[in-house]
Amino acid sequence: MTASRSPTAGRLRARAAAGSVLARAPGRVNLVGEHTDYNDGFVLPAAIDRSTWVAARRRDDAKLVMRSDDLGETVTVDLAAPGDGARGAWSDYPHGLARALVASGIPVPGADLRIASDLPLGAGLSSSAALLVATGRALLALAGATVDPVELALLCREAENGFVGARSGIMDPVASLLCERGSALLLDCRSLGHRPVELPGDLRIVVCNSLVRHELATGEYNRRRAECEAGVASLARARPGIVALRDATLADLGAIRDVIDPVLFRRCRHVVTENRRVLDLATALDAGHLSAVGTLMGESHASLRDDFEVSCAELDLLVEIASGVPGVIGARMTGGGFGGCTVQLVRSEAVDAFRHRVATVYRRETGRLPEILVCEASAGAAGDARPA
Ligand code: GLA
Repeated sequence: MTASRSPTAGRLRARAAAGSVLARAPGRVNLVGEHTDYNDGFVLPAAIDRSTWVAARRRDDAKLVMRSDDLGETVTVDLAAPGDGARGAWSDYPHGLARALVASGIPVPGADLRIASDLPLGAGLSSSAALLVATGRALLALAGATVDPVELALLCREAENGFVGARSGIMDPVASLLCERGSALLLDCRSLGHRPVELPGDLRIVVCNSLVRHELATGEYNRRRAECEAGVASLARARPGIVALRDATLADLGAIRDVIDPVLFRRCRHVVTENRRVLDLATALDAGHLSAVGTLMGESHASLRDDFEVSCAELDLLVEIASGVPGVIGARMTGGGFGGCTVQLVRSEAVDAFRHRVATVYRRETGRLPEILVCEASAGAAGDARPA
């Protein structure tokens, strides 16, 4: 059985049908490298100690009966009915993943799934990827099959892109599977090569949830992707070797400045400079240069705000407040944007003062109390014992 002392996992285990397997997958926070994954670039996420658990028990038919304890809803689909498609609901994630496993040749049985999470849902901490990964691991255990974690991450992306209809990149499922305790994960989203980057033990990852959920987030996300693709098309006319923004330099962009739409220019400039910041930040962490870490996080936020335009007033405010608190190494928005969370690296001894200051000023300015999570960089699901 997957080891877990989490109360959420304990409650789920008590409610789940006898003989269920239990699988866990964590959420993630991204330290730097935003909107770079779908441009074949670099990212530096860390898994956090907040997870989604899926308890699964085999059924005698081909039905997938999905029960969310958090939402109090049960959805049933039939894996044997090809026409049973996406419904625009949370259940599309586990359902889509089951279908992606089947399409890849894995004999997924019908199953009762019971799902619980201590991860804030829809806050930009990758609750969707955690649900996909935990479902995948639970269903693989029922099928008696194993797949390589990178393969499973690709199947999760396939489910999200092809079945759910969200065009997200590869960062979130890879982070949820492959991060290591105490480290962030430097991931090359083109080769999928990766390595852990150790975080200083006396720093805490503090996440502030603005509690803002932008209604247009999915549409704007897909629009940014289309803008990046249009930018690549302009660049490729000048330099045919460029197949993704990963291949472009600032000099390449400078060469087409007069002919490219100014908005596309700024979108591309964000991605090109952000890729550089990911590599520089990993190097700065390796060398223990914390002031460089802070500078790079600040530059990333400014670029997301001004060039990529995915921040919002509340995220800017949280970063501004956090940046003024002693003991804060760096602060920036994290995830897709348009609301959601900021991430801060904070010296342990400064965490209490940080909480107090951010909560007080944010409430004064917005009337809302932000949710503040002090997180540990945790092991991804692939580090768990096989669900049993
Ligand atoms: C969302 C997507 C990721 C990534 C980020 C932005 O979290 O799921 O693939 O694109 O936005 O960096």
